[in-house]
Amino acid sequence: MRSYDIGVIPGDGIGPEVAREGNKVLETVAAIEGFQYKLVEYPYSGEYYLKTKELVPESVIDEWRTLDAVLLGAIGHPDVEPGLVERSVILGLRFGLDLYINLRPIKLYAEHLCPLKDKGPADIDFVVVRENTEGLYSQIGGHLKKGTPDEVALVNGVYTWKGCERASRYAFELAVRRGKERGENTRPRLTLVDKANALRPHDIWTRAYEHVAQDFPEVETDHAYVDACCMWMIKNPEWFDVIVTTNMFGDIITDLGAMLQGGMGIAASGNIHPGKTSMFEPIHGSAPKHAGKNVACPLGAIGAVAMMLDFLGETGAAARTEAAVSGLLKSGAVPSADARSGIATSEMGDMVVARLEAA
Ligand code: IPM
Ligand code: MG
Repeated sequence: MRSYDIGVIPGDGIGPEVAREGNKVLETVAAIEGFQYKLVEYPYSGEYYLKTKELVPESVIDEWRTLDAVLLGAIGHPDVEPGLVERSVILGLRFGLDLYINLRPIKLYAEHLCPLKDKGPADIDFVVVRENTEGLYSQIGGHLKKGTPDEVALVNGVYTWKGCERASRYAFELAVRRGKERGENTRPRLTLVDKANALRPHDIWTRAYEHVAQDFPEVETDHAYVDACCMWMIKNPEWFDVIVTTNMFGDIITDLGAMLQGGMGIAASGNIHPGKTSMFEPIHGSAPKHAGKNVACPLGAIGAVAMMLDFLGETGAAARTEAAVSGLLKSGAVPSADARSGIATSEMGDMVVARLEAA
């Protein structure tokens, strides 16, 4: 029987609550599709750091490399210095496992979740490929004369040919795959999003993208500066098919994208190195104000499970999970994909499970 070793990092705040629902769904689809898995739980979080002063040790990163995938709930604690634990756990995974793609689908499942006037599910269905191991996240920089009037702070954007090339290639391949799945006569389109007018070295992206484009004549190439991209995402989201962009811009535009899908509670992501251990997480944070109240929306975490299943090659299970979420939202039973839906976190998980079992 097919079997997988899956690491789980429930994390902080609403993380453990939404991860629990993700696991419920995983258990149900595994039984239906007939595969097995072993969960290995890891305690790393802000909460754990406050108790033990321990961040992720190097040996654990090595251990993660031996797993098939890792599921993460959310990381971030109000009593811990901002970013300390996020850098250790989230960036520890992204950099440590060289998860160079951050895949973020932006898909509106149901009309009533759409915040835009005169737009609907037919208009909002694209994917952001966010480069995930360099750019402004490279952690190269620091302070000089900190705390004095002469203070200098440097944040360096690092872009390598290899990084731009492999992210572009992944995005072109994805565009081709999506085009085939749609099976229409429309050409797949890949939009490069950068800021190469003001930040001239960003033209490494322009050149790497154009270089890779030669291998994909069937894909229509397109370009937008990041500010214009934000505008188009609201004005004409139907123009986008696949976007490839830098780490920082991908972070920003996918929060905007999450709102187009119905809210932070529903957006899922995969931190991927094709063929190697990859990590899947909802894109929302730990939302301390909603923690422990059983009100957070678990659909992002459940979507992350679906993305993991697809990555593992369990495409049947992935499609079932996505269909269950999509069906639930289309049914109108979930008024909003956030903490104000009036549906408890655990109840929403049960609703997805019930749909899986009934299908
Ligand atoms: C995300 C988050 C992270 C990021 C934070 C928590 C470090 O915002 O996954 O989008 O900036 O990448
Ligand atoms: Mg973000």
